[in-house]
Amino acid sequence: MDRAPPLSDAPALVWLDACGSTNDEAWARMGDPRVLGVGADAQFDGRGRRGRVWRSPRGCGVYLSLVVRPRFGPEQAGALPLLAGLCVAERARLMGVNARLKWPNDVLVGGLKLAGVLCEARAEAGRCVAVIGIGLNLRTPPEGYPPEVLATALGTSAPAREVATQLAADFFEALSALPDDAPICALRPRWQALGPPLGAVMRQGDVVGTYAGLDDAGGLLLDTPSGRVALHAGEVEQHNAPAQARDE
Ligand code: BTN
Repeated sequence: MDRAPPLSDAPALVWLDACGSTNDEAWARMGDPRVLGVGADAQFDGRGRRGRVWRSPRGCGVYLSLVVRPRFGPEQAGALPLLAGLCVAERARLMGVNARLKWPNDVLVGGLKLAGVLCEARAEAGRCVAVIGIGLNLRTPPEGYPPEVLATALGTSAPAREVATQLAADFFEALSALPDDAPICALRPRWQALGPPLGAVMRQGDVVGTYAGLDDAGGLLLDTPSGRVALHAGEVEQHNAPAQARDE
């Protein structure tokens, strides 16, 4: 495995030629305070949320895992994946695409998935430690995406390591600006600005309602015929309101 030295002008990323999963590589380095993240040009066992596979061919994406030791406690850990998705969406917009957020932390362009976040957090002695895995599609693989994946790519020629370094800097800068006592409330306006339009119809299992924003814990608020409910885990099916469809 080829390990390049960290770039000098950026957070200390370990960069690998290939590995199983950068999340596993990041956990293995959790004890080393110099390591802020691990990236790779390819993964042969990339993991997605809910046990899914994250296809990670060489040259096609950013495969990056950040090592995070936030000042806030485990009860605020929900801020981390929301912030990661937000930083990716904001960076993608700076790179020229109309990226939007889908709760909890998918980044979509035109309804297709551009990036995903796999956040693994643990409590250690009352503190939160986490690995935040980011998969961002830079270029469509030559064989295309499987139809069931509904994915898209930035279509940039930028090298993965360069984009990863920028994302790491974006994330750690944004994290350091969050208040310890209410990080989710502080990031909520930025998330909501790129999130679904208020009133978009959403479904999770039998629960169907219209989107009404995020609660103080980062949960998704839905107004349903039987009142307001907050979802705190799982996937939602999202049917965008016409205003956002036009925006895309
Ligand atoms: C999702 O299912 O949407 C989350 C995908 C996360 C993929 C990234 S790629 C870098 C890191 N290493 C992994 O094995 N997974 C995450």
